[in-house]
Amino acid sequence: MWSGTRSQLSGFRRHATLGAALAAVLLTLAAPAPALAEPPAPPDSRVVGGIRASILEFPWTVAITKSDGSPLCGGTLVAPAMVLTAAHCAIGRQPKDLLVIAGREDLLTLGGEIRALTGIWIHPFYTDVRAGDDVAVLRLALPLARPTLPLATPADTLLYGPGSYTLALGWGRTAEGGFPSRYLLKAALPIVGDPLCQAVLAGFEASSMLCAGYANGGVDTCQGDSGGPLIAGGKLIGVTSWGIGCARPYQPGVYVRVSTYQPLLDLVLRS
Ligand code: ARG
Repeated sequence: MWSGTRSQLSGFRRHATLGAALAAVLLTLAAPAPALAEPPAPPDSRVVGGIRASILEFPWTVAITKSDGSPLCGGTLVAPAMVLTAAHCAIGRQPKDLLVIAGREDLLTLGGEIRALTGIWIHPFYTDVRAGDDVAVLRLALPLARPTLPLATPADTLLYGPGSYTLALGWGRTAEGGFPSRYLLKAALPIVGDPLCQAVLAGFEASSMLCAGYANGGVDTCQGDSGGPLIAGGKLIGVTSWGIGCARPYQPGVYVRVSTYQPLLDLVLRS
């Protein structure tokens, strides 16, 4: 639920009940996609975490930092004053503990704009990344005059087809156990079929998650990328959530299946 001012808290109570019911219905309705062959080899398997991306090309990608400015997670501007991120980035934190930075490609500069938060909504069923529901919405104190990214809806099944390419973005580590990136990076990742995700990732749940990556590993999101966007067809299809190590062979990264949560998130964004 929204944490923040008293009025926001009470305002959300109505939606929390409705949202919980909606989420339960959606989880029951979602069916796993059929299996497909392994995706083709990566374009450049030597680059863990990808190559540099322009913030002008992906203006809705934001960095989430602690109040002291230290990088924590990624996020996506989904409405002028709303940032979608992972629940595990926001759980146990107060709005005053976090900042959103937009328009800053190089985190060692002072470019772009910084926003304080007035509220944090965390999926009411969230307990642990591997249990799913790893979504949160941050309400900004002031809207940002930047483009927003639309959410994939339950009708966007084609964007989730196994083997189709997605783009992950973030400032996370460029190697397992390595350092976070100072620059925004992007990596193209093929979607892996749900049965394969289930087979190699204990805890994978197709109704609430998708997995993406290469059989040989080498390209993946990593710590610090969580909460950031996974995009396809000009829409947000995933939120970086978890993985086993980073870029390991046969260990694709796990992303929140945004289409499952879109009806609920739509209510949250209007609240
Ligand atoms: N949980 C990580 C974070 O907080 C993201 C991990 C993604 N891991 C992966 N192998 N794709 O930043």
